[in-house]
Amino acid sequence: MSSAPAEQHVASDETDGLPRRGFLKRLSALGAVISAGLVSVPVIRAILSPASQAAGTGEWVKVADDTALLDIGVPIRVNFVQTVQDSWIETRTLNGVWLYTDDGEKFKAYNGHCTHLGCSYFYDKERKNFFCPCHRGQFDVKTGAVLAGPPPRPLDELDVEVRDAVVFVKYKDFRLGVPERIET
Ligand code: FES
Repeated sequence: MSSAPAEQHVASDETDGLPRRGFLKRLSALGAVISAGLVSVPVIRAILSPASQAAGTGEWVKVADDTALLDIGVPIRVNFVQTVQDSWIETRTLNGVWLYTDDGEKFKAYNGHCTHLGCSYFYDKERKNFFCPCHRGQFDVKTGAVLAGPPPRPLDELDVEVRDAVVFVKYKDFRLGVPERIET
């Protein structure tokens, strides 16, 4: 007489446990699928888009709307925001170039970072050359050559293209503090 409730109790546990175990299995499977997805998305993205890490470097940047409006013999600095996408992280950096022409037809463009330690340099109107205030480096405006101070190499010259009087520069960065010009 007394065994009937016990059997009923055991039977009740099994019927309650089956749906619970099933639910836990499905939950665990769902977690595995989500984890696999989170891992695979950046991997697939890296495989499909290997160039994404270099995005932002080597791009043509518009630096002047009209060549006729540029001063002859006086360089101008043009600043712009460069966006670099590295997998999930987007970084924005303020960069700049110096643009120079002495005839309005041929143009020189220099990376705006001093080749010594990367400080921004400016145009010294009195001396008519570029001057870096960090360690008193000086550069020739027409050639980018080092005139004084510790910079180990000339300014980093960039490619320039004029399309319908609009000036574009192919922006690149280079390793700092070394005599060789090594793209980064
Ligand atoms: S960073 Fe320009 S001279 Fe040192």
